[in-house]
Amino acid sequence: QELQMNLEQIEKGGYDHFMMKEIYEQPSVIKDTYRGRLHAHEGLIQMAGIEDNLEKFLNADRILIVACGTSWHAGLVAEYIFEEFARIPVEVEYASEFRYRNPIISSKDIVIAISQSGETADTMAAIKLAKEHGAFVFGVCNVVGSSISRESHAGAYTHAGPEIGVASTKAFTTQITVLTMIALRLAKAKGTLSNSVFHAYLEELEIIPEKVKEALETNQVAQEIAAVFKDASNCLYLGRGYNFPVALEGALKLKEISYIHAEGYPAAEMKHGPIALIDEHMPVVVIAPKQGHYDKIVSNIQEIKSRSGKIIAVVTKGDTQVRELADYVIEIPETSDALSPLITTIPLQLLSYHIAVMRGCNVDQPRNLAKSVTVE
Ligand code: AGP
Repeated sequence: QELQMNLEQIEKGGYDHFMMKEIYEQPSVIKDTYRGRLHAHEGLIQMAGIEDNLEKFLNADRILIVACGTSWHAGLVAEYIFEEFARIPVEVEYASEFRYRNPIISSKDIVIAISQSGETADTMAAIKLAKEHGAFVFGVCNVVGSSISRESHAGAYTHAGPEIGVASTKAFTTQITVLTMIALRLAKAKGTLSNSVFHAYLEELEIIPEKVKEALETNQVAQEIAAVFKDASNCLYLGRGYNFPVALEGALKLKEISYIHAEGYPAAEMKHGPIALIDEHMPVVVIAPKQGHYDKIVSNIQEIKSRSGKIIAVVTKGDTQVRELADYVIEIPETSDALSPLITTIPLQLLSYHIAVMRGCNVDQPRNLAKSVTVE
């Protein structure tokens, strides 16, 4: 029993849970994921799966992204990045919906299937349907040789290493890393980003691991805030633009490991109904970095405050305006708008982790959940 305990401890790298170990592995696994692919100094992105199929991507009518859960959230981030960088139309679909709704698919479509495990049944079925209609399927998986990686025509692996915690963390940030590199490569080929902007993003992506490391320093404040809200029965997560999918992801993290009902929303949607939920018992997590619709999100925060909602704001270091309005503030390093999800998601992972631990939940194996949903 003692030996078993020690083996587990070694496997968890000294952390109490695999999830925490995997949250802290993100700086190094993001680096592992772009190593050999991102050559910032030379201004190059090299990914065999893309190079070998570049014409298909450049001539595609659109990119369809099929995924589930956290991988679907990574797909939503990719929609914003692909459309802004490469000006290619992107549609993100729940694989489970896509496979049954008799979708319109043509041989001019590129389907990107995102799956950490590479075994998700709905995503596999969506791929098979797409292939039947002649689409080109590109897989983004974390498990080498997984069913989805084998079923795809081409692909790019995330190099996150085994993700044991059921709640996906490092898979999410490495998926975004891969998708960002693809979007940058296509933008370079299409000339939709100027050389200087292209280079700037390569340089910034290269130092993202350092910024993730800095964002991990919010662990202490996340734990303090968790103690205040651990008994909440509901929680809202709000974001705009690139951080709208991060709001969805933050809410999913909280739901699946602490069993608190949480919902992510585009911040501007509040006045179309959800603001009726706000009272002094409703914690609202607002992702409000300096870059990206800042003034609009500040007014959303004011709307919530005037209805006595409790506000937890993720802000850029040195922020003063939101600090005046929020009840709790988590400061993260500044990034560009497009790369901010890689950073803004970190405190939300930590917050949900600490709340779940304080509630005595089984963080690594939450009730009713499996790491890979290989059944429908
Ligand atoms: C995310 O934390 C959950 N574990 C779940 O939503 C997961 O993202 C989903 O089941 C998809 O899994 P996959 O990436 O392995 O396909």
